[in-house]
Amino acid sequence: MESTGGGRVIVVIPTYNERDNLEPIVGRVRAAVPDAHVLVVDDASPDGTGAVADALAEADEHVHVMHRTAKDGLGAAYIAGFHWALERGYDVLVEMDADGSHQPEQLPSLLAALPGADLVIGSRWVPGGSVQNWPLRRQLLSRGANLFVKIMLGMPVGDATAGFRAYKASTLAKIGLDDVESQGYCFQVDLTRRTVGAGLLVAEVPIRFVERTRGASKMSGAVMREALLRITQWGIAYRLDTLTGRRRAGR
Ligand code: GDD
Ligand code: MN
Repeated sequence: MESTGGGRVIVVIPTYNERDNLEPIVGRVRAAVPDAHVLVVDDASPDGTGAVADALAEADEHVHVMHRTAKDGLGAAYIAGFHWALERGYDVLVEMDADGSHQPEQLPSLLAALPGADLVIGSRWVPGGSVQNWPLRRQLLSRGANLFVKIMLGMPVGDATAGFRAYKASTLAKIGLDDVESQGYCFQVDLTRRTVGAGLLVAEVPIRFVERTRGASKMSGAVMREALLRITQWGIAYRLDTLTGRRRAGR
């Protein structure tokens, strides 16, 4: 298979009320990386996204759907999707939003970097990366979150909250998913921290993040509070570990 060193690739797309976004994004993935499979993980969206996903899966054997019973957070949806994909022997697991913010046309550049790394992050905050149409408030939130992560966790990663990523299956097996508690968007930081902490290699490739034109973001006060709390807890644990010599700085 092209550019991925022979691996089977699955793009996991979590959805909550993305009815109008789903068909275009799945079509773009199928066109950009024709060999890849797609798994839509829908949390019983009230707007009928699940039925749209079922129709797409019916028409295309590369498209799969996981229906969950309630809105349970981005992290929980990814964990469920990752288990599904690992059980079926996929070699590369991609994370991507449904709303078009992550451009499937840039996925080949993430996959091209994967043979030399254990995790490739599509980054907004590295040279060449950018955001389009994000209000200043969201830019500051993302920049601030990444600065906070850097101060608390000391990781050499420019965009640790990014949600456009490619993992080797072996990476997820090594870091272990069973004790991941992150429900919301801090899941991204959690898996980055686990990957770095396991001594695995993270590569970043620049991407252009394009704000959605349809539907609404699911970012909320609860998502932000969970992130603040957990990153602080991880930071304290990390600092204690480096102080007592159980861990080297930057790991
Ligand atoms: N199944 C499921 N369950 N999907 C969800 C849930 C949930 O509880 N919450 C959000 N999603 C899906 C959305 O439907 C969308 O496909 C994707 O997750 C991203 O959600 P958005 O609400 O569009 O996120 P955003 O644009 O505000 O945030 C972006 O930036 C964050 C910070 O950098 C994303 O790229 C995040 O992944 C990233 O952490
Ligand atoms: Mn979005």
